[in-house]
Amino acid sequence: MPTPLVFPSAEPCVLVIFGASGDLTHRKLVPALFELACQGRLPEKLCVLGVSRTEMSDDQFRDKMHESVRKFAANYGEGGDAKWGPFAKRLHYHAGDAAKADTFPSLCEHVGEAAREHSLPQHPNVLFYLSVAPSLYEPIIANIGASGLVVEGKRWCSLDPSAHSWQRIIVEKPFGTDLASAESLNRALGRVFEEEDTYRIDHYLGKELVQNILAMRFANTIFEPIWNRTYVDHVQVTAAETLGVGSRAGTFYDAGGGGAMRDMIQSHLLQVLALVAIEPPSHYDAGVIQREKIKLFSSARRIPPDQTPLWGAFGRYGADGAKGEPAYVDEKGVDPARHTDTFAAMRLEFDNWRWAGVPFYLRSGKKLASKLTEIAVLFKKPPTNLFGSISPQSADRPPNRLIINIAPREGISLRFEAKVPGSVSRSVFSLDSAKLDLDYLERFGGEAIEAYGPLMLDAMRGDRTLFKHRDEVESGWRICQPFIDSGLLHEQMETYQPGSWGPENANALLARGGHKWHNPRPDEVR
Ligand code: BG6
Repeated sequence: MPTPLVFPSAEPCVLVIFGASGDLTHRKLVPALFELACQGRLPEKLCVLGVSRTEMSDDQFRDKMHESVRKFAANYGEGGDAKWGPFAKRLHYHAGDAAKADTFPSLCEHVGEAAREHSLPQHPNVLFYLSVAPSLYEPIIANIGASGLVVEGKRWCSLDPSAHSWQRIIVEKPFGTDLASAESLNRALGRVFEEEDTYRIDHYLGKELVQNILAMRFANTIFEPIWNRTYVDHVQVTAAETLGVGSRAGTFYDAGGGGAMRDMIQSHLLQVLALVAIEPPSHYDAGVIQREKIKLFSSARRIPPDQTPLWGAFGRYGADGAKGEPAYVDEKGVDPARHTDTFAAMRLEFDNWRWAGVPFYLRSGKKLASKLTEIAVLFKKPPTNLFGSISPQSADRPPNRLIINIAPREGISLRFEAKVPGSVSRSVFSLDSAKLDLDYLERFGGEAIEAYGPLMLDAMRGDRTLFKHRDEVESGWRICQPFIDSGLLHEQMETYQPGSWGPENANALLARGGHKWHNPRPDEVR
């Protein structure tokens, strides 16, 4: 049995969610808060103030949230109705357009009222959550700054030195649509919040097996000595989805914020990759880990735009005749001339002592063969083949391969070669591949936890380990920008069959390095 976990307590605060009538609040944020409340992990005095333009009373907001929680919270059926009442009292609502400054005087009063009702101090801790359209981020941040809600002030010139409360902000992705917009957003945040109070969320960092990468590498001695260019041939990171873009096509995906390179690679996949490739942090601390990631990203090879077709591949899904589903270009609101990628793959190299010459391949796409996220570390072949000369089956055996399954079901497996039993004499000595397999859920039990809950708790306790520093975000854009800007790469975009593993040009990308994608068969997906 695993040792029961003791959770450090999060600090009481008013959680102000901008975008309270939006999808994320309904599907993820409030259900995650409810789950935390059921597990006794929410601070007793935490209250939520949802803000959006729709006119609603607190009770109407609570009713709407109740519907969402019933639908999206895990295990609601197990006593959820009884637990809902006390949780609902924590929820409040403020109608107003947060992009307009004149919404803020009454909003500030409402924060104060909610604080009083829940016995919080006059200047309470406030955690802002930006869950609105990205175009509203900067105006809302500026309005928060002008409203006086941030009393903590800058480290060097506290606005109200007597205030001991904190004010923090969680910013959802997409964090910019390119390097320039990300820099601008970072500047806007920096005018109001300290970097230490800025929590750029990436829900992939909340996934168990992503967090386990550091544990695997640094709580064991067996991986780190071989975790380098001498033993690792190449690394693949895949985030494949079976669903298409659907109703988000016109509003987000094709409207400048989307495309697999922007939506998935620049954010989630680079973060996953960073944990695979960083140097050992000196201690487990947000700042130290973030600095290692920044150092790694700064060693990424810059690809000149005219070279990107050799280092990347884009695709768009075609129509699914069997299911009667449209091709991406025929989804509502899509302009085919924009050449938005529903599949993107890239090769990345780090010019540092550990990884020089080792290709890292990243790919992500919609409507692919399986819903899965995984890391495959392919090791080099043994320097000589002792068995090749005595047995034809042993002449060309596959190299060792470590697979980290991040989703849908978590696990780690290591493929290695073994002697087939029964082959006793030299002439029938035969090798075959075998697997050491850790199924995370089987070993540790428990249930899958929605990443948003623990991440919000981290922000309430001031732990930024699983959030991104401004330099990480900007470096991510610097790496992806040449691909996004490359007209050539977009022109060479291929249409791929829904349910496949993506376009042919992605296979060619690996073939140029003498490699092949790890495409698990449906029965191999954990
Ligand atoms: C989001 C992207 O960040 O991640 C979506 O905007 C994508 O396009 C989603 O579908 C995938 O998340 P997960 O956790 O299902 O892999």
